[in-house]
Amino acid sequence: MQLAQTLNTNGPAVSGEFSLDTIDIISPDHYQKNGYPHAEWTYLRKHAPVFHVGRPRVDPFWAITKAADIIEISKQPRLWLNGPRLAVFKLEEGEELLAPEAYPLKHLLNMDPPQHGTYRALLSRNFTPRAVRALEPEVERITRDVLDDVMGRQQCDFVTDISSKVPVAVIAELLGVPRTDWPTLFRWTNEIIGSGDPEFQRGADSNETFIQARMEMFQYFSAMVAERQKNPGNDVTSILATAKVDGQPLPTLELMSYLLVLVVAGNETTRNATTGGLLALVENPGEFRKLKTDPSLIKSAVEEIARWTSPVIQFSRTAAQDTEVRGNKIRAGESVCLFYPSANRDEDLFDEPFRFDIARNPNPHLAFGIGEHFCLGSNLARLELEVIFRQLAQRLEFAELAGPMARLRSSFVGGIKHMPINFRLKRAEGQ
Ligand code: HEM
Repeated sequence: MQLAQTLNTNGPAVSGEFSLDTIDIISPDHYQKNGYPHAEWTYLRKHAPVFHVGRPRVDPFWAITKAADIIEISKQPRLWLNGPRLAVFKLEEGEELLAPEAYPLKHLLNMDPPQHGTYRALLSRNFTPRAVRALEPEVERITRDVLDDVMGRQQCDFVTDISSKVPVAVIAELLGVPRTDWPTLFRWTNEIIGSGDPEFQRGADSNETFIQARMEMFQYFSAMVAERQKNPGNDVTSILATAKVDGQPLPTLELMSYLLVLVVAGNETTRNATTGGLLALVENPGEFRKLKTDPSLIKSAVEEIARWTSPVIQFSRTAAQDTEVRGNKIRAGESVCLFYPSANRDEDLFDEPFRFDIARNPNPHLAFGIGEHFCLGSNLARLELEVIFRQLAQRLEFAELAGPMARLRSSFVGGIKHMPINFRLKRAEGQ
């Protein structure tokens, strides 16, 4: 039976708590106010796993909420294209959809085969588990410094004081960005990912914020690339600055966009996995105790934190030709929206998906996506989370929420902007 087509989407409320007429899985306000719409996704997985969403100020799309469908779509990159629609965004009242020409970007996430593979290969060696392991001492040091900075305090904002600091430092080290510029890098990522959130807007609206931040990043990296072309080092910026595709240096747009995506993709996501991970441990003190007493659980804990927090909410794909998903006909040019956090609570893939279980095994989560565009930085993100939670498990003697959290106003990357905690941190061993 084709549920998505047989449900009366124009009629009154269908049975249950939600109506397919009004169910909201895309308004950034909804995410900011209520967090992830897990109840809605659960409803859709059950009643309309391939659901055509037509709403004011959103280009129509098919919401894909089952893991099996996300896997099938992601593994056919020639049928399901990443370009031209990166993700689904809802416009503000009176806001115009910006033409891509207003902010040209050409990076892995909006490239398709065969170009995508060529560009991905330029850096794939730098992100293998082995290459990334070599960064462990540096990540250890960065994390220890960040924690030492809050030693002796009883309260902090876990996001601004701790979880946001490690990823920006790691990616900046990787790219060779000098320490004095880290705060600026941090601001740009907030503005690009959080452009829809008034806290990060500096122009009149989200478009202006995004365009401005993009332009400044491009200017910054242009200067850095020019310098690295003269004096190449070992950093990722030097690799890209001197790389060749078909015997030619990378065109400027592709080069700048690559660097921008590395900065943006590696920051907010890891930050939010860290924040959401700590929250989950605070809310499940038994799991935190387990991690403290059995450090060998760190790897499975990291996977569970990735599954549980699923910081990337969605990416989109566009059908290259007429096709079907779960019996629903989807025409060439129509787009699907892959909701990763929904896949990560899919009852068909996980036992007790709503239980946070740091020893979960197996844990075939989709927090990093799957297939052709599988997260390039997943090994790095895993390493960062491993180091952070290992150090927290060793040093954090006590933590509780000290006030309400503030969530990011975004239906693209899920985030906690502020999370005040009361805490007690002890010295690192050997200090
Ligand atoms: C917890 C942290 C992270 C999460 C949850 C995450 C999640 C994702 C997801 C869902 C995708 C799209 C996958 C798909 O379409 O199948 C992706 C792609 C990507 N991520 Fe991550 N990511 C994280 C950290 C990082 C880090 C640390 C970096 C980098 C340095 C990074 C760089 C990238 C890049 C470059 C892509 C594009 C890959 C491609 O299109 O081929 N990510 N990530």
